[in-house]
Amino acid sequence: METESQLMRLGLFDARVPRYTSYPTAPHFSASVGPDQFTAWIEAIPAGSSISLYMHVPFCRRLCWFCACRTQGTQSDDPVRAYADVLLAELALLKSKLAPGVTLSRLHWGGGTPTLMPADMMTRIAGAVFDAVPMGPGAEFSVEIDPNEIDEARLDALAAAGMNRASIGVQDFDPAIQKVIGREQSYEETKRAVDMIRDRGVASLNADILYGLPHQTPAKIAQSVQMLLSLVPDRVALYGYAHVPWMARRQQMIPSDTLPTPEERLQLFETARKLFVWDGYDEIGIDHFARPTDGLARAAKAGTLRRNFQGYTDDLAPVLVGMGASSISRFPQGFAQNASSTSEHTRAIRDGKFSTHRGHVFQGEDLLRSRMIEAVMCDFRIDAEEMIRDWNATPAQLSALFAAAQAAFGEMVEISPAGLFIPERARPLTRMIARVFDAYDLTKSKHSSAI
Ligand SMILES: C[S@@+](CC[C@H](N)C(=O)[O-])C[C@H]1O[C@@H](n2cnc3c(N)ncnc32)[C@H](O)[C@@H]1O
Ligand code: SF4
Repeated sequence: METESQLMRLGLFDARVPRYTSYPTAPHFSASVGPDQFTAWIEAIPAGSSISLYMHVPFCRRLCWFCACRTQGTQSDDPVRAYADVLLAELALLKSKLAPGVTLSRLHWGGGTPTLMPADMMTRIAGAVFDAVPMGPGAEFSVEIDPNEIDEARLDALAAAGMNRASIGVQDFDPAIQKVIGREQSYEETKRAVDMIRDRGVASLNADILYGLPHQTPAKIAQSVQMLLSLVPDRVALYGYAHVPWMARRQQMIPSDTLPTPEERLQLFETARKLFVWDGYDEIGIDHFARPTDGLARAAKAGTLRRNFQGYTDDLAPVLVGMGASSISRFPQGFAQNASSTSEHTRAIRDGKFSTHRGHVFQGEDLLRSRMIEAVMCDFRIDAEEMIRDWNATPAQLSALFAAAQAAFGEMVEISPAGLFIPERARPLTRMIARVFDAYDLTKSKHSSAI
């Protein structure tokens, strides 16, 4: 296939490039941002404005071998209860620093597995969140749910607290693949969780699945996608499995020689992509699919799709505050990341301070490049007029940046007075094209492959 060989020539199959959920990406954060800076940024949020909040729960009952998320295993509730107390104190601290009348646009609980918290704990934490920042009009409250770690009582608590979007982890339905990735979860268990979620009138359901898993074939992924489609999710994230055993040690349980080749990964992605499109889903950015009525699909059509640490979003709030160990916040002024170890995070909060230990203050061309990268990842195009009008780009600066993309990717990028456009045949290169605009050049560090 000519396009495949072109993609290969351009280095797709060797590439290790970031997912660009932020710019600069987290490995480029430094100790330049600490608790005082974070507090000043929180205090600078205007009274009456709208913010979003991410809360990280870094615990799981089971530790799936494939998982690269920041989490730790526990069978007992004791560390979870201790952590919940820390979150309550952190939320009280946030409340004490916020100007009056600030409301929530989006609340997301992620992890780890937030649903391993007992029902009473979820109710208390949700109450503390809304006491610090009440939900604004049209706010969304989403929670990551492990279908293995949920029951009626916990879903009742979440629904009563106002959860209106649930996100379930599926990964793959094939039992042999599940065994190799250390994540066993029958279709029946997943369906049971979906039915419980829908019975409570939760408006929207997301599901995560993976391509590029050991022993995955086009026929197998097609089967998994069909099974997922039978559950009619509103939104699907089709992530490329990132095999990074030097970072996520549990992945050492997965033999590298069982993984598909980069060419096979592309085929797996294409097989799944076509099935979602045939079923009426809209393609969103590089790896999401949504029903045309879903907020992401509407944002993609309106050109208001955004990218943040949770991936694609239709949230337009200018501030995202991260609570809990390792969480990252974004402000108009820069990024701030909490201590990633639970004990360090706990110590800071018990001392009455935020645990911020790294971050980045925007400077120079950061905001321009950040928006260019976001536009490439979300819309496959960069609008020259927007860059000049909203991000202080000069025509000469834009020409030089676009010329760099063309020099690297030739006809795979189209340049015109309107800006830069990535045609459909070149979409598998999107992350690599975005990297052209990354002045912190990550080529030398180890990241997941481009597809
Ligand atoms: C915090 S986890 C899932 C939440 C919940 N604990 C569960 O297991 O259902 C969020 C998602 O990250 C994705 N993920 C985790 N490790 C990954 C990896 N190595 N490569 C790609 N995606 C990964 C998975 O799709 C997973 O559903
Ligand atoms: S996939 Fe979910 S349950 Fe499994 S280790 Fe990762 S966060 Fe925990």
